[in-house]
Amino acid sequence: MSTALADPASLDLMFPQEFISSEVSAQLPSDLQIRPLASTDYKRGHLDVLSVLSIVNDLGEVAWVNQFHAMRANPRAYFSIVILDKASDKIVGVGTVFIERKFLRGLGSVGHIEDIAVDKSQQGKKLGLRIIQALTHISESSGCYKTILNCSDTNIPFYQKCGYVKKENEMAKYA
Ligand code: ACO
Repeated sequence: MSTALADPASLDLMFPQEFISSEVSAQLPSDLQIRPLASTDYKRGHLDVLSVLSIVNDLGEVAWVNQFHAMRANPRAYFSIVILDKASDKIVGVGTVFIERKFLRGLGSVGHIEDIAVDKSQQGKKLGLRIIQALTHISESSGCYKTILNCSDTNIPFYQKCGYVKKENEMAKYA
């Protein structure tokens, strides 16, 4: 068992830990930790967990770190979070909320939840729920008037359990 778990305060994070709801953190099992994505998380299996959701096409750590910095260069726009297994120092859950600034609704903002995934071995333990609660908290505390996401029909019951309701339709055009 590893004891090398890094204190979030010592990590190079995408955004400050204070954005993570302490209420959500307290509801996680004691062997898990929720925190912002860190610039060293490539090594902790970030892409392995994302591959549960879709095709990843791993371009290597340098490219991953460049993307991390490009996203962080847009302050208060990208909020990627992870759930970490403390014993193994491996990521077991991931998610992002993107804060879109608008001209309408009094220059309002909308939170877009994206790329939610929980490692297969950890599914069904309410980690997905905690990720959605944490991202919704970030969206709402950033002043967003709504938080939205796209999902497959099979995931509708999961998002309903998270307090979301079905609205309108998704359109897509792939390049
Ligand atoms: N159908 C019905 N109910 C479900 C489903 C489902 N597919 N998935 C979860 N639930 C229910 C659970 O039973 C639980 O209900 P309960 O409170 O009555 O016990 C509740 O939803 C919360 O479930 P969690 O345990 O938090 O779900 P989990 O940790 O397994 O995470 C997730 C759900 C993220 C969908 C996970 O299964 C996963 O990673 N799937 C593969 C990737 C994926 O589809 N991601 C979502 C893409 S959509 C997007 O990114 C915006």
